[in-house]
Amino acid sequence: MAAAPAVYLEEMREAQRARGGPASVLAIGTANPANCIYQSDFADYYFRVTNSDHLSHLKDKLKRICEKSMIRKRHIFLTEEMLKENPNMSTLANPSLNVRQDILIEEVPKLGEKAASKAIREWGRPKSDITHLIFCSISGVDAPGADYKLVNLLGLNPSVKRFMLYQQGCFAGGTVLRLAKDLAENNAGARVLVVCSEMTLVLFRGPSETRLDNMVGQAIFADGASAAIVGSNPLPIERPLFHLVSASQTILPNSEGAITGHLREEGLTFTLKGNVPQVISDNIEKSLEETFNPVGINDWNSIFWVTHPGGPAILNQIETTLGLKEEKLRASKHVLSEYGNMSSACVLFVLDEMRRRSMEDGKATTGEGLTWGVLYGFGPGMTMETILLHSVPIQHN
Ligand SMILES: CC(C)(COP(=O)(O)OP(=O)(O)OC[C@H]1O[C@@H](n2cnc3c(N)ncnc32)[C@H](O)[C@@H]1OP(=O)(O)O)[C@@H](O)C(=O)NCCC(=O)NCCS
Repeated sequence: MAAAPAVYLEEMREAQRARGGPASVLAIGTANPANCIYQSDFADYYFRVTNSDHLSHLKDKLKRICEKSMIRKRHIFLTEEMLKENPNMSTLANPSLNVRQDILIEEVPKLGEKAASKAIREWGRPKSDITHLIFCSISGVDAPGADYKLVNLLGLNPSVKRFMLYQQGCFAGGTVLRLAKDLAENNAGARVLVVCSEMTLVLFRGPSETRLDNMVGQAIFADGASAAIVGSNPLPIERPLFHLVSASQTILPNSEGAITGHLREEGLTFTLKGNVPQVISDNIEKSLEETFNPVGINDWNSIFWVTHPGGPAILNQIETTLGLKEEKLRASKHVLSEYGNMSSACVLFVLDEMRRRSMEDGKATTGEGLTWGVLYGFGPGMTMETILLHSVPIQHN
């Protein structure tokens, strides 16, 4: 068969290429399991359900961590009844991966579906117009994956182009937006559904003298799903919320082993070293300079902030290092307080909170009245995702 003349190839490529841009977030949806735990009750709850009340000094330590956590409440799918049925999940290291997997393979896509349905409703176009799907979760690894299950749950076009990101961790809320931006800006008419669905059921376990960072994780991690529609060149029916101007990912120097996650017979075990807040704050100014140099900004109080709320020490240390005004990290602190650290799902919760409060407070833009902003994801590696955001004017009636 003769090869297609080069001119056809160029025309075909031109027809595929998206024009204009940049990519924008066109809608956001969030969801949480109904079961809610108040942080003031957590230490008593945790030591009771793990049959560990005799370890009273560890319980006192967990109380101190909870008090300093900045968290008021968290939503967690795993209940005391489920733990009674599956006692291995309450121990430190008894094999329990099968039972965890049985639940997560079903529930991770379902929670994602709730958030995605809300985003699609806000977007206002038929779901058949979704061209790409990116699904992200640290847990529930399976084949076919949560992306495939979501296509069926939502009734998406079977030819939607899917990407499944398992086992990434907290930074990946930035990863999915970076990938969505690339897809939207390089494929004509692309509308990318991004879904992050995270459940702590994969990592719940009992306390131990030798694994104190496990208690930190038990005190701050939480369940939640978030979704967004990302696309370029909005149609009149679409209402952009934020433009994704540039995106980068980097491995932070001297951070190896600071945050890790290992999938084992006893579920996901993780490391959270005490230097995590320091490593982030040591590297943040360089990243800000690189990101904002092209737009000539070097006053970090003049931008809006959408930071992964990894923990209060991370937020406090960023604030101190950069001399940020107290209100700058308000949206991240709000999400930490009301939902805890929902890993990759967090940054879209923060973005949602940012546009909602900007609207309620009568601000001129979706970014608290400001034009430029930054989104940060931090997690295993350590890896940092940085996205340069541009807000959109709000029409108040
Ligand atoms: C855990 C955290 C909420 C505690 O708040 P804090 O203001 O730092 O308070 P403290 O320094 O008094 O720590 C409270 C206790 O937690 C312990 N602790 C803190 N970080 C710890 C860690 N990574 N591993 C083990 N123990 C830890 C402290 O030793 C202290 O114990 P003590 O009360 O017996 O002295 C806070 O350190 C934090 O936000 N850490 C970051 C969590 C993280 O890494 N998230 C990343 C996920 S992306």
